[in-house]
Amino acid sequence: MTETVRLTVNGEEQTVTAPARAQLAEVLRDHLELTGTHLGCEHGVCGACTVMVDGKPVRSCITFAKSCDGARVETIEGYEGDEVMAMLREAFSRRHGLQCGFCTPGMLATARDIVARFDAPDEKTIRMELSGNLCRCTGYVGVVRAIQDVIKWRNARGLESAGHLHPEPPAPRKIAKFSIREETVPGNFIEPSGQVRTDGAWTIVNRDFFLAVPPAKVWELFADIRSVSSCIPGATVIKVSEDDFEGTVEIRFGPIRAAFRGVGRYSTDASRRSGTISGRGDDRNGHSKLEGEMDYAVCSGTHGGSLVSAEIRFRIEGLLAQFNRPELITGFVDYLLARFISNCEAVLSGAKATEARQLSILGLAWTVLKSRLRSLFKHH
Ligand code: FES
Ligand code: FES
Repeated sequence: MTETVRLTVNGEEQTVTAPARAQLAEVLRDHLELTGTHLGCEHGVCGACTVMVDGKPVRSCITFAKSCDGARVETIEGYEGDEVMAMLREAFSRRHGLQCGFCTPGMLATARDIVARFDAPDEKTIRMELSGNLCRCTGYVGVVRAIQDVIKWRNARGLESAGHLHPEPPAPRKIAKFSIREETVPGNFIEPSGQVRTDGAWTIVNRDFFLAVPPAKVWELFADIRSVSSCIPGATVIKVSEDDFEGTVEIRFGPIRAAFRGVGRYSTDASRRSGTISGRGDDRNGHSKLEGEMDYAVCSGTHGGSLVSAEIRFRIEGLLAQFNRPELITGFVDYLLARFISNCEAVLSGAKATEARQLSILGLAWTVLKSRLRSLFKHH
């Protein structure tokens, strides 16, 4: 299935015909030839693919192009004439903030975002903000120093953070319209129902998705904690009692590995085909804690299928705390939700879940994070 996606990339309007699951990075690199956006892990871990979408840093490797419809995208090629980026480039070079340069486009995008958002961040804040960008060469000291230099320079010039720093959109340049190749992709269309948002320490995500199976069948799957957990990448339910369960979630995001064990509660309302799951867990090594709630509801969709609406609410402490940031979590949720949907479809058709059993931010959402899903039903 293809979708038309409209983007303003580096100031130029683009209309793209792409599969519903084409990632933004693929659109930028393979079809707009903006290869300054690098792909490293392609799992949303390393940050090499970071670009700005509507002024916020986003992992383009796990962000569906369709979810950016109507958005303004800035890639590393789009900063011509931007004083702050020019200073950052110079400072990265002077401070040895790069060696091989592979991480540098994403690192610069994040660095510029830090310069734009913070008036006088201390080193710890800069390091926390950089935690979503991995560099195998530098050890980060040079990167941090470069950002500190540019913030000093900016403050010395009497510029405030944010508004003053955004570049004028560059003059439009002509790029031919294109089509993206068709490819097999898992799952069905996912509809973001509202932005990822935060409430205190909690991050809240709403998503609706379609399954080409009648609601009664989907409900059978969702009402059974063991069956549904088999569809969650990385999750295993160990023990189930009346309305409690115990389980594990294994997460591997590039160099980050964590194995969580936790306990949860679940409740279902068969008359409304809705339910709630909540849980909390600790990483075996004590590096991270996760807590989450999820409410979900299953209702009739088009063509005899089902629409599932979900609200996930979670908070993370420790090593994985970077995933609390809405701009980082958005891509993860959609990327992994697609795999969850694909697994659900496999199980509902009598097969076994196969998609990415080892990988799981969604698994966090189910087993460790508390999640809450609301009954919001939309048309596709
Ligand atoms: S390539 Fe996107 S985060 Fe690594
Ligand atoms: S400069 Fe080589 S990965 Fe960062």
